[in-house]
Amino acid sequence: MEVIWRDKYSVGIKEIDNQHKYFIGLMNDLYNAITASKGREELKSLFQNLIEYSEVHFATEEKYFDEFKYEGAAEHKLKHQEMRDEIKRIKGMENKNEIDFYGGIVFFLSQWLDDHLEKMDQKYVECFKGHGLE
Ligand SMILES: [Fe+2]
Ligand SMILES: [Fe+2]
Repeated sequence: MEVIWRDKYSVGIKEIDNQHKYFIGLMNDLYNAITASKGREELKSLFQNLIEYSEVHFATEEKYFDEFKYEGAAEHKLKHQEMRDEIKRIKGMENKNEIDFYGGIVFFLSQWLDDHLEKMDQKYVECFKGHGLE
């Protein structure tokens, strides 16, 4: 299922919202390639883009955690690490049916994102805004 940006995802900070939107766009690029039955190499490279971008995004958030001495930093970094670990685990199950495999990844990431934005990213908003981000 295509992933849709929802207003509840907004943290009200432009840079972060734009990164989350871009990440959703990359998820949909992969999703659309799956529904168009693109080949393994193309799916793999779209998946790679997604994972690399998640690192760019995590680094952005974590840079601010450090800079602003955010009190929830350790817990939040752990959540980012859990996502990496889960992706690694799923990758280890790579199977011959790439449509199912990448479809499962998109599904996992869309659920993860929905939960993470609501439960974790919203928590730093006060701190980030208090330090002048808008
Ligand atoms: Fe985030
Ligand atoms: Fe986060």
